[in-house]
Amino acid sequence: MLTMEKSSSIEHPILDLIKNRRSVRAFSSEPITADKINSLFEATRWAPSSSNEQPWVYLYATHDQELWHKMFECLNESNRIWVKDAPLLILSLARKTFTHYGSANAHAMYDLGGANSFLSLQAVEMGLQVRQMAGFSHIKAIENLKIPDIYEIGVFIGVGYPGDPTNLPEKLKQRELAPRERFLQQEFVMNKTF
Ligand SMILES: Cc1cc2nc3c(=O)[nH]c(=O)nc-3n(C[C@H](O)[C@H](O)[C@H](O)COP(=O)(O)O)c2cc1C
Repeated sequence: MLTMEKSSSIEHPILDLIKNRRSVRAFSSEPITADKINSLFEATRWAPSSSNEQPWVYLYATHDQELWHKMFECLNESNRIWVKDAPLLILSLARKTFTHYGSANAHAMYDLGGANSFLSLQAVEMGLQVRQMAGFSHIKAIENLKIPDIYEIGVFIGVGYPGDPTNLPEKLKQRELAPRERFLQQEFVMNKTF
């Protein structure tokens, strides 16, 4: 039973990449080079997946492209507010069925989440940060981006170099600067049966 007792401190040693990852809302408009964009997606190639299906598919656009604006239009207003300066938008999708067997892949979204985590950590390594977004219109995304039914939509992802949080609207600025909270290990890790 979760008591919701949370802490913002790191209690045991972890990788610097994990320590330094943070879903920022304040992005600088500084463009991201094509090399770095390639490295983000390269990182996803090496993520594990059920039967090595690698069901993830990514669509991306840089701020100077019309496609960026088509993607931006799919997002909820609450996300548009902060993501408007992000130099890179990504949409992550998963193939719903196995390529070889044709049967449903029950782990496709699980695998996509893993690949997105690899992408997020690669971003940190390069001085970037990402913020994933489930707040978008599925209908608009299917329409604007002509997404075939064989894909399940995961999340949109804003990527960029961290910007100045004091430029965010007041409410978001407060959330951005608030300490991050996490459950304590003993609230979700067990060395016994249920
Ligand atoms: C699947 C998923 C969906 C999310 N959707 C949104 C979103 O629509 N808008 C938003 O501002 N943040 C969104 N986030 C970011 C989370 O709010 C964030 O990861 C969480 O508050 C923990 O903060 P941290 O990533 O900095 O540790 C999403 C994250 C995930 C993994």
